[in-house]
Amino acid sequence: MKFFLDTADIEEIRRARALGLLDGVTTNPSLIAKEGRNFWEVVKDICQTVQGPVSVEVVGLNATEMIEEGKRFAKVHKNVVVKVPLIEEGIQACRELVSQGIRVNVTLCFSPSQALIAAKAGATYVSPFIGRLDDISQNGMDLVRDIRTIYQNYGFKTEILVASIRHPLHVVEAAKAGAHVATMPYKVFNQLFQHPQTDLGLERFLADWNKVKDKIFPEQISCL
Ligand code: E4P
Repeated sequence: MKFFLDTADIEEIRRARALGLLDGVTTNPSLIAKEGRNFWEVVKDICQTVQGPVSVEVVGLNATEMIEEGKRFAKVHKNVVVKVPLIEEGIQACRELVSQGIRVNVTLCFSPSQALIAAKAGATYVSPFIGRLDDISQNGMDLVRDIRTIYQNYGFKTEILVASIRHPLHVVEAAKAGAHVATMPYKVFNQLFQHPQTDLGLERFLADWNKVKDKIFPEQISCL
């Protein structure tokens, strides 16, 4: 499973990249707005920081505007993937951008029928928003499983990019469901490492070691 960070914060991207576990980044207008910097500078900085796909979302209201925006985004860096909303105009824009060799992430997917449309339109990624479904008492992970079945039935190449992830269990469940990518906030990425028993185990091992280290392993200590 590929790990993407869902952020426009360069420092977070740097930290995740340093661990060698980062495969890409997704952004949206809300995340970029939060940075309070020039849009193009933010996009360029992200592309220079991560080696992998960087989703950048259009804000145009019709297909023509979305296509124009998408073409401009794609010129910024070869790793840019244009994000379009899963509405009729977005799907029209997707088809056109794909025909021009530009990769597209169809976002705001909340149903299997929408995911089927994204795949038929040639999207590179479809983004089911599982957290926002959970928020309204619908099981977001059921959507991921349904998409997986549908795509397998017909051999669609569109990758399932699980979005709106809120906690580590979402990542684990998405992996069990066979999703290709999980995009997550930096906080969730960090939480993937954590287990209280790991911390406790380490604490105990070191406490035991420190009690006897000078008596029974003098040669190892001198090497440290
Ligand atoms: C994905 O591409 C979106 O940017 C993101 O996952 C939305 O998540 P949210 O529902 O936490 O805003």
